[in-house]
Amino acid sequence: MEEALVLQEDTAGVVRLTLNRPRALNALNSELLGELDAALAALEARGDLRAVLITGAGDKAFVAGADIAEMRDKTPDQARRFAVNALATLKRLERLPVPVVALVNGYCLGGGCELALACDWAVAGDNAVFGQPEVGLGVIPGFGGTQRLPRRVGPAMALDLITTGRRIDAAEALRIGLVNRVVPREELETLVDELTGQLGANGPQAVRAAKQAVHDGMNQPLDSALALETSLFALGFAGTEQHEGMSAFVEKRPARFGDAG
Ligand code: CAA
Repeated sequence: MEEALVLQEDTAGVVRLTLNRPRALNALNSELLGELDAALAALEARGDLRAVLITGAGDKAFVAGADIAEMRDKTPDQARRFAVNALATLKRLERLPVPVVALVNGYCLGGGCELALACDWAVAGDNAVFGQPEVGLGVIPGFGGTQRLPRRVGPAMALDLITTGRRIDAAEALRIGLVNRVVPREELETLVDELTGQLGANGPQAVRAAKQAVHDGMNQPLDSALALETSLFALGFAGTEQHEGMSAFVEKRPARFGDAG
């Protein structure tokens, strides 16, 4: 039986997705992207979902880009379809109602960097290498890099990376704000355990509302975004979660939250 291209592990609602083409450095081909899309579609509706972690199989790469061998002979129409489908999958990832964290465990290039950019935030091992090398292949980033990278690191740094195609190490990725935390590669799994614990311990409805406020608010003028925050803050007082969280504080005990519903 063929091994799945997207592996899934679930620890109390924190789902870890592992992109599993290590011999091709987890390059994103249509088949892998299709499996990822199906996995995400199944996660969307889960009320018990707390967070999603996404990483690459093997010890060399997160994802070394879109699959160059598959792309080489595409016509413009086929290339457009490939990009449109991939963008829809990355949008699905980005719009999951819970935090999505990229665990970058090696090469994170081209479409791999664009995948990490569709995650809410990223942590990396100190062996990670980032870059948008597409211009060296005679194309531009096609999975959202020209738009999400400048939004993450600013347009000047994004254009530096996209037009030179240069690779940067984890320390530089941290400095420019492309990733949130860098740890020695061998400590990445310890960090995963820590994150799983932290993400799982908080009020699940509050975490979802926080993500919604930031994502939806960023696309609005400040006044309407602040009004959105106020609505979501007030809505938090409608369920049981706020009372449990605040009671736990007052009663000096850990909070016991249920699922998001
Ligand atoms: N697509 C298809 N196959 C890839 C790949 C990719 N993006 N990246 C690596 N591979 C394959 C290699 O062809 C090789 O396969 P074989 O063993 O069958 O020859 C295998 O993975 C291992 O790769 P290397 O032998 O090259 O490993 P290395 O350690 O010498 O180099 C690397 C590692 C620097 C990451 C190098 O593989 C590399 O430069 N890869 C391509 C990176 C790249 O240009 N990515 C952007 C792709 S374009 C894109 O993503 C467009 C977009 O925005 C949609």
